[in-house]
Amino acid sequence: MSEVQLEKLLIDPPAEFAAQANAKADLYEKAAADRLAFWADEAENLDWFKKWDKVLDDSNPPFFKWFVGGKINACYNCVDRHVKTWRRNKAAIIFEGEPGDSQVLTYDQLYGEVQKFANVLKSLGVQKGDRVTIYMPMIPEAVIAMLACARIGAPHSVVFGGFSSDALRDRINDAKAKLVITADGGWRRGKVVPLKANTDKALEEAPTVEKVIVVKRVGDAAQINWVEGRDLWYHELMAKADRHCEPEQCDAEDMLFILYTSGTTGKPKGILHTTGGYLTQANMTMRYVFDIKDTDVYWCTADIGWITGHSYVVYGPLSAGATVVLYEGGPDYPDKDRFWAIIEKYRVNIFYTAPTAIRTFMKWGLEYVQRHDLSSLRLLGTVGEPINPEAWMWYYKHIGGERCPIMDTWWQTETGAHMVSPLPGITPLRPGTATLPLPGIEVDVVDENGEPAKEGYLVVKSPWPSMMRTIFGGDECYVNQYWSRFNGKYYFTGDGAKRDDLNYIWVTGRVDDVLNVSGHRIGTAEVESALVECQEVAEAAVIGKKHEVKGEAIVAFVILKEGVQPSDELVNKLKKHVAAKLGAFCRPDDIIFTAELPKTRSGKIMRRLLRDIAEGRAIGDTTTLADPGVMAELKEKYASKEE
Ligand code: PRX
Repeated sequence: MSEVQLEKLLIDPPAEFAAQANAKADLYEKAAADRLAFWADEAENLDWFKKWDKVLDDSNPPFFKWFVGGKINACYNCVDRHVKTWRRNKAAIIFEGEPGDSQVLTYDQLYGEVQKFANVLKSLGVQKGDRVTIYMPMIPEAVIAMLACARIGAPHSVVFGGFSSDALRDRINDAKAKLVITADGGWRRGKVVPLKANTDKALEEAPTVEKVIVVKRVGDAAQINWVEGRDLWYHELMAKADRHCEPEQCDAEDMLFILYTSGTTGKPKGILHTTGGYLTQANMTMRYVFDIKDTDVYWCTADIGWITGHSYVVYGPLSAGATVVLYEGGPDYPDKDRFWAIIEKYRVNIFYTAPTAIRTFMKWGLEYVQRHDLSSLRLLGTVGEPINPEAWMWYYKHIGGERCPIMDTWWQTETGAHMVSPLPGITPLRPGTATLPLPGIEVDVVDENGEPAKEGYLVVKSPWPSMMRTIFGGDECYVNQYWSRFNGKYYFTGDGAKRDDLNYIWVTGRVDDVLNVSGHRIGTAEVESALVECQEVAEAAVIGKKHEVKGEAIVAFVILKEGVQPSDELVNKLKKHVAAKLGAFCRPDDIIFTAELPKTRSGKIMRRLLRDIAEGRAIGDTTTLADPGVMAELKEKYASKEE
């Protein structure tokens, strides 16, 4: 089928799935009839120490508060309450290490570990409200660390293990973290990720950190330095820790975590999430979108360093009492069938991954898939970027065996949980679209003036429980970035979108200066600042070029300083610098040296034109350029580079 035909295809929910689905069609009506009552009912699925006095406080927009006056603890909801039921001995985490080691933690075991670690944190002086940075591989201790922070009301800031020491340092300093939890290293494609070494380097310029707790993961495979008085082994602390620690009775609006994400400025933003509303929506979407059942084995492949890992590896599934698979390493280690081997080994029922991974699997070919029995799967999910209909069909056919509904979930770090997604068993599916807003969520496509449109900007029209509350230390920035575009009326997502004949929403991608490379969000300004830090570089403009597997690839147009000669060595040096500065996943694919950049008369770089060049299109309107001649030179440069 051609892409065009696929875009019209409609797949009805199978009757067997619908018959057993958690979500019932009347949810939409119920939410539409009384949105706040709907959310209050959803919040009842959590255990509260004290119920809220008010569902939504909208007296000071855009600073909204949910479940005001409620007292709750996220860790209690993810662990303690399950231990009081038959789930006590149910597997909470099934861990698969990249080298092939594995471990199962039941809810009761998790309960013990989390309480012990909460006591460790307390004994090191961590108090309610203190920020703790977590820089770890995907191992059970990472989840234990997050939950232990939540237990004592200390907000965590998880930094993805792929980030460089500079990026880690900036995030530690912005959060003013008191303590860092890391590991000696982690396994990735057979190699050690030097987490402890990166932490040491970051801490050279991070004065707020008093202690570093180090999990021994790779042992002799990593040579690490030890700073006496500052560094402490996790296992030594845990051996002495008491197994009982009462959960803190947090306010619904107490900060649960900060998570840094890229925006249009050069500086990452600390997205701040609070407790009650966040957990309500993470839990609700787990039940309705992922149809989680107690009999399921659930696997989300995201790293806990991203929001998907927070909401759908930790808080969503554990609050729902699910069995979660946690995998440490890469999809191609030791071979390209590792994911399918894991699904077969643990009989995974629900699988959630990113379109870029699916496109990679397509490229690798079916032989890896066909080595394994994937018949346990019953529901699939995708997140992170638009999924092209062809990749959707491949996933549906070859991974889901044409029996698993695919949940294409649109959401963001800022939204905290799913916002636009089909409901399994209810929504007819169409390859490539996240379909409709979830019950209780008011998302729309609008034009420049905020009027509903067939094509335009994706906005959220009313507050939702798991929304970000602000940017850590940046209330003003929060208002400007998200609420000023439509004069405080709507939350602006930064995404463009279209509606089709069924009113389904097709998210087309970012309309701001944010790239989406393999589902990772990267600000063009961050890469540009990294480049201009190099002494050879006078100016840089970074754009995303369409890429078959990654979605977008990073292309940098660079003006060198007077007297600096372009060379292949310099290209490599600059690429390396960006990787070292930000993280390997931010390394530019192409660097083009140029004498000029296309700018408007007011000096703004016209990235749209650079994209035209990089993607080999006819160059768009250049009338606003200060010097339209620039484009011919650039085009020629790029063409000669491609040859
Ligand atoms: O552009 C959208 C894209 O990812 C952005 C959010 O990135 P981040 O905060 O890193 O969170 C990713 C995981 C939730 C969005 O602004 N995006 C995410 N999911 C989808 C998507 N684009 C299209 N379809 C999706 N399902």
